[in-house]
Amino acid sequence: MTQRGVTVWFTGLSGAGKTTITQAVEETLRSQGYQLEVLDGDIVRTNLTKGLGFSKEDRDENIRRIGFVSHLLTRNGVIVLVSAISPYRNMREEVRHKIGDFVEVFVNAPLEVCEGRDVKGLYKRARAGEIKSFTGIDDPYEAPANPEVECRTDKEELSESVAKVLNKLTEMGYLQ
Ligand code: PPS
Ligand code: MG
Repeated sequence: MTQRGVTVWFTGLSGAGKTTITQAVEETLRSQGYQLEVLDGDIVRTNLTKGLGFSKEDRDENIRRIGFVSHLLTRNGVIVLVSAISPYRNMREEVRHKIGDFVEVFVNAPLEVCEGRDVKGLYKRARAGEIKSFTGIDDPYEAPANPEVECRTDKEELSESVAKVLNKLTEMGYLQ
Protein backbone atom coordinates (compact mmCIF):
# COMPACT_ATOMS: atom_id res chain seq x y z
CA MET A 1 0.00 0.00 0.00
CA THR A 2 1.39 3.43 -0.85
CA GLN A 3 0.56 5.78 1.93
CA ARG A 4 1.09 9.48 2.46
CA GLY A 5 3.01 10.45 5.57
CA VAL A 6 1.36 12.71 8.08
CA THR A 7 1.86 13.77 11.67
CA VAL A 8 -1.28 13.66 13.76
CA TRP A 9 -0.56 15.79 16.80
CA PHE A 10 -2.71 15.22 19.89
CA THR A 11 -2.51 18.12 22.34
CA GLY A 12 -4.36 18.60 25.60
CA LEU A 13 -4.17 18.58 29.37
CA SER A 14 -2.82 15.66 31.36
CA GLY A 15 -5.67 13.20 31.75
CA ALA A 16 -7.67 14.60 28.82
CA GLY A 17 -7.38 11.31 26.94
CA LYS A 18 -4.53 11.87 24.46
CA THR A 19 -2.88 8.49 25.03
CA THR A 20 -6.19 6.61 25.02
CA ILE A 21 -7.34 8.06 21.70
CA THR A 22 -3.89 7.67 20.17
CA GLN A 23 -3.77 3.99 21.08
CA ALA A 24 -7.23 3.36 19.66
CA VAL A 25 -6.37 5.16 16.41
CA GLU A 26 -3.12 3.20 16.23
CA GLU A 27 -4.91 -0.13 16.65
CA THR A 28 -7.47 0.65 13.99
CA LEU A 29 -4.95 1.85 11.43
CA ARG A 30 -2.51 -0.98 12.11
CA SER A 31 -5.25 -3.52 11.53
CA GLN A 32 -5.82 -1.85 8.16
CA GLY A 33 -2.16 -2.28 7.22
CA TYR A 34 -0.90 1.28 7.67
CA GLN A 35 2.66 1.96 8.79
CA LEU A 36 2.62 3.94 12.00
CA GLU A 37 4.83 5.25 14.71
CA VAL A 38 3.65 6.61 18.05
CA LEU A 39 5.55 9.28 19.98
CA ASP A 40 3.98 9.72 23.41
CA GLY A 41 5.43 12.45 25.63
CA ASP A 42 5.39 10.22 28.66
CA ILE A 43 7.48 7.56 26.88
CA VAL A 44 9.66 9.87 24.81
CA ARG A 45 10.71 11.52 28.05
CA THR A 46 12.34 8.23 29.12
CA ASN A 47 14.65 8.16 26.09
CA LEU A 48 14.76 10.82 23.32
CA THR A 49 14.12 13.69 25.71
CA LYS A 50 15.34 12.07 28.92
CA GLY A 51 16.55 14.61 31.47
CA LEU A 52 14.22 17.38 30.36
CA GLY A 53 11.86 18.81 32.93
CA PHE A 54 8.75 20.95 32.72
CA SER A 55 10.04 24.51 32.50
CA LYS A 56 8.95 26.38 29.38
CA GLU A 57 12.44 25.92 27.92
CA ASP A 58 12.43 22.16 28.54
CA ARG A 59 8.91 21.68 27.25
CA ASP A 60 9.84 23.62 24.11
CA GLU A 61 12.93 21.45 23.65
CA ASN A 62 10.85 18.31 24.18
CA ILE A 63 8.40 19.42 21.49
CA ARG A 64 11.18 20.47 19.14
CA ARG A 65 12.80 17.02 19.34
CA ILE A 66 9.51 15.19 18.96
CA GLY A 67 8.76 17.45 15.99
CA PHE A 68 12.15 16.69 14.45
CA VAL A 69 11.65 12.92 14.59
CA SER A 70 8.06 13.28 13.40
CA HIS A 71 9.28 15.23 10.40
CA LEU A 72 11.81 12.54 9.43
CA LEU A 73 9.20 9.83 9.67
CA THR A 74 6.46 11.82 7.96
CA ARG A 75 8.56 12.58 4.93
CA ASN A 76 9.23 8.84 4.61
CA GLY A 77 5.56 8.02 4.36
CA VAL A 78 4.89 7.06 7.95
CA ILE A 79 1.75 8.07 9.82
CA VAL A 80 3.06 9.54 13.07
CA LEU A 81 0.81 9.84 16.09
CA VAL A 82 2.19 12.32 18.61
CA SER A 83 0.68 12.53 22.05
CA ALA A 84 2.10 15.38 24.11
CA ILE A 85 0.58 18.11 26.23
CA SER A 86 2.48 20.62 24.03
CA PRO A 87 1.01 23.54 25.96
CA TYR A 88 2.49 26.36 23.89
CA ARG A 89 0.73 27.43 20.69
CA ASN A 90 3.93 28.84 19.18
CA MET A 91 5.73 25.53 19.40
CA ARG A 92 2.82 23.64 17.88
CA GLU A 93 2.76 26.19 15.05
CA GLU A 94 6.52 25.81 14.61
CA VAL A 95 6.32 22.03 14.18
CA ARG A 96 3.23 22.36 11.98
CA HIS A 97 5.16 24.70 9.72
CA LYS A 98 8.22 22.42 9.59
CA ILE A 99 6.35 19.20 8.98
CA GLY A 100 3.73 20.51 6.57
CA ASP A 101 1.62 17.35 6.56
CA PHE A 102 0.25 18.06 10.00
CA VAL A 103 -3.11 17.49 11.63
CA GLU A 104 -3.75 18.97 15.05
CA VAL A 105 -6.18 17.19 17.34
CA PHE A 106 -7.31 19.09 20.40
CA VAL A 107 -8.13 16.52 23.06
CA ASN A 108 -10.37 18.70 25.15
CA ALA A 109 -11.89 18.08 28.53
CA PRO A 110 -12.35 20.77 31.19
CA LEU A 111 -9.67 20.92 33.85
CA GLU A 112 -12.22 19.87 36.50
CA VAL A 113 -12.91 16.69 34.55
CA CYS A 114 -9.21 15.85 34.05
CA GLU A 115 -8.57 16.58 37.70
CA GLY A 116 -11.57 14.48 38.72
CA ARG A 117 -10.22 11.54 36.73
CA ASP A 118 -6.71 12.02 38.11
CA VAL A 119 -5.60 8.72 36.56
CA LYS A 120 -2.02 9.03 37.77
CA GLY A 121 -2.68 10.97 40.98
CA LEU A 122 -0.61 13.86 39.64
CA TYR A 123 -3.26 16.57 40.09
CA LYS A 124 -3.56 15.68 43.76
CA ARG A 125 0.18 15.97 44.14
CA ALA A 126 0.23 19.25 42.21
CA ARG A 127 -2.52 20.70 44.45
CA ALA A 128 -0.53 19.58 47.49
CA GLY A 129 2.48 21.46 46.10
CA GLU A 130 4.51 18.27 45.66
CA ILE A 131 4.75 18.82 41.90
CA LYS A 132 5.52 22.31 40.66
CA SER A 133 4.65 23.76 37.25
CA PHE A 134 1.85 21.32 36.60
CA THR A 135 -0.09 22.12 33.43
CA GLY A 136 -3.48 23.62 34.24
CA ILE A 137 -2.66 24.12 37.92
CA ASP A 138 0.31 26.46 38.07
CA ASP A 139 1.51 26.26 34.48
CA PRO A 140 -0.22 27.42 31.29
CA TYR A 141 -2.06 25.50 28.62
CA GLU A 142 -2.77 27.44 25.44
CA ALA A 143 -5.71 25.81 23.70
CA PRO A 144 -5.54 25.54 19.91
CA ALA A 145 -7.48 28.24 18.09
CA ASN A 146 -8.14 26.27 14.91
CA PRO A 147 -7.44 22.56 15.37
CA GLU A 148 -8.35 20.26 12.49
CA VAL A 149 -10.17 18.04 14.99
CA GLU A 150 -11.53 18.61 18.48
CA CYS A 151 -12.42 15.66 20.69
CA ARG A 152 -14.57 16.53 23.69
CA THR A 153 -13.72 13.52 25.80
CA ASP A 154 -16.07 14.59 28.59
CA LYS A 155 -19.03 14.49 26.20
CA GLU A 156 -18.28 11.87 23.57
CA GLU A 157 -17.46 8.17 23.51
CA LEU A 158 -13.96 7.01 22.63
CA SER A 159 -15.31 5.51 19.39
CA GLU A 160 -16.69 8.91 18.40
CA SER A 161 -13.36 10.63 19.03
CA VAL A 162 -11.54 7.98 17.01
CA ALA A 163 -14.04 8.29 14.16
CA LYS A 164 -13.57 12.07 14.07
CA VAL A 165 -9.81 11.66 13.67
CA LEU A 166 -10.10 8.94 11.01
CA ASN A 167 -12.74 10.86 9.07
CA LYS A 168 -10.61 13.98 9.01
CA LEU A 169 -7.57 12.01 7.82
CA THR A 170 -9.66 10.43 5.08
CA GLU A 171 -11.14 13.78 4.08
CA MET A 172 -7.63 15.25 3.85
CA GLY A 173 -6.48 12.39 1.64
CA TYR A 174 -4.16 10.62 4.08
CA LEU A 175 -6.24 7.46 4.35
CA GLN A 176 -7.80 5.38 1.61
S1 PPS B 1 5.03 18.65 27.37
O1 PPS B 1 4.51 19.83 28.10
O2 PPS B 1 4.37 18.48 26.06
O3 PPS B 1 6.48 18.73 27.23
O4 PPS B 1 4.67 17.37 28.27
P1 PPS B 1 4.70 15.81 27.85
O5 PPS B 1 5.98 15.45 27.22
O6 PPS B 1 3.46 15.49 27.10
O7 PPS B 1 4.69 15.08 29.26
C1 PPS B 1 3.52 15.12 30.03
C2 PPS B 1 3.45 13.92 30.97
O8 PPS B 1 4.34 14.09 32.03
C3 PPS B 1 3.73 13.88 33.29
N1 PPS B 1 4.02 15.08 34.08
C4 PPS B 1 3.57 16.35 33.87
N2 PPS B 1 2.69 16.89 33.02
C5 PPS B 1 2.49 18.24 33.09
N3 PPS B 1 3.09 19.05 33.95
C6 PPS B 1 3.98 18.55 34.86
N4 PPS B 1 4.60 19.35 35.71
C7 PPS B 1 4.24 17.15 34.83
N5 PPS B 1 5.06 16.34 35.57
C8 PPS B 1 4.90 15.10 35.09
C9 PPS B 1 2.29 13.52 33.03
O9 PPS B 1 2.17 12.15 33.28
C10 PPS B 1 2.06 13.81 31.55
O10 PPS B 1 1.44 12.75 30.85
P2 PPS B 1 -0.05 12.82 30.30
O11 PPS B 1 -0.18 11.63 29.43
O12 PPS B 1 -0.23 14.10 29.53
O13 PPS B 1 -0.94 12.75 31.50
MG1 MG C 1 -0.66 10.21 28.28
